[in-house]
Amino acid sequence: MAETAGLVIGVVALAGLFNNTVECFEIVQLGRAFGKSFQTSQLKLDNARLRLSRWGKSLSLDDVRDAVSLPGRLGSETTVKHAEALLGQIIELFAEAEGVSNRYRSRTEPEDNSLAVYDPQTDLYPAVAKLHNKMRQLAIERQNRSGVRQKAKWALYQEKQFRRLIEDVTELVDGLVELFPATQQTQRELCDREVSAIGDGEGMSVLKEIAAAQDRLLEQAITNATVGAERSHHIVFSGSGNTGLQLGHNSGTMSGFMFGKGG
Ligand SMILES: *[C@@H]1O[C@H](CO)[C@@H](O)[C@H](O)[C@H]1NC(C)=O
Ligand SMILES: *[C@@H]1O[C@H](CO)[C@@H](O)[C@H](O)[C@H]1NC(C)=O
Repeated sequence: MAETAGLVIGVVALAGLFNNTVECFEIVQLGRAFGKSFQTSQLKLDNARLRLSRWGKSLSLDDVRDAVSLPGRLGSETTVKHAEALLGQIIELFAEAEGVSNRYRSRTEPEDNSLAVYDPQTDLYPAVAKLHNKMRQLAIERQNRSGVRQKAKWALYQEKQFRRLIEDVTELVDGLVELFPATQQTQRELCDREVSAIGDGEGMSVLKEIAAAQDRLLEQAITNATVGAERSHHIVFSGSGNTGLQLGHNSGTMSGFMFGKGG
């Protein structure tokens, strides 16, 4: 009994931390100094957030009542504690990055161009904006919004700092995913749903390239959807319900449109 109570408390704490961690991605902006790589960098950030939200969803952390009724998935109190530590490290990474960013701002003239930031709502190419909005929306749906506190936005000005952050976050989420092997199948299914929700579009091949580096399960789901589509020529509708997925002949590499243009 005592052990169960401990697990329940642990899960409630974990769910709160999960919300706070996903929220870290919402309040980061990217500086104008990113230039051409702003588009892909924004998508890398969105993808990392989506992957974390998928992990939380696979444990039902968006709804604590469901999570505690699935004790098999959560394993032991020790596992839950370990997960809390990993989430805590992600929050710490964002906090450190924010500190670096504050120091950069304080030693830079206020009118310096490098302090300008991008706005995803107006500065992304339409195909990229569509991906960004969809991934953001999917991640938000997996959070318990009533547990989220509003925080001020801050900006990452330096690309090398961004690269380190993404790399470190990816490693920590790897750790979280490995910690709960019983959720692997659920995560695969969630990936399939993500791919059908994101749907067809010229951004998909760019997302696939990004996923290849930081989100293998999503990469697989995109490949699966593409293979399925090619098998039935042009058009295939997949996924449950009536949301269709169309992936057709446009599946060649499309990243040219992003890398080619100036940002
Ligand atoms: C959402 O978060 C609030 C505040 O932390 C909490 O009281 C509530 O139980 C949570 N809801 C679910 C469904 O987990
Ligand atoms: C992709 O397809 C393979 C082979 O059918 C399957 O084992 C795997 O689970 C699928 N992956 C995803 C993420 O849907």
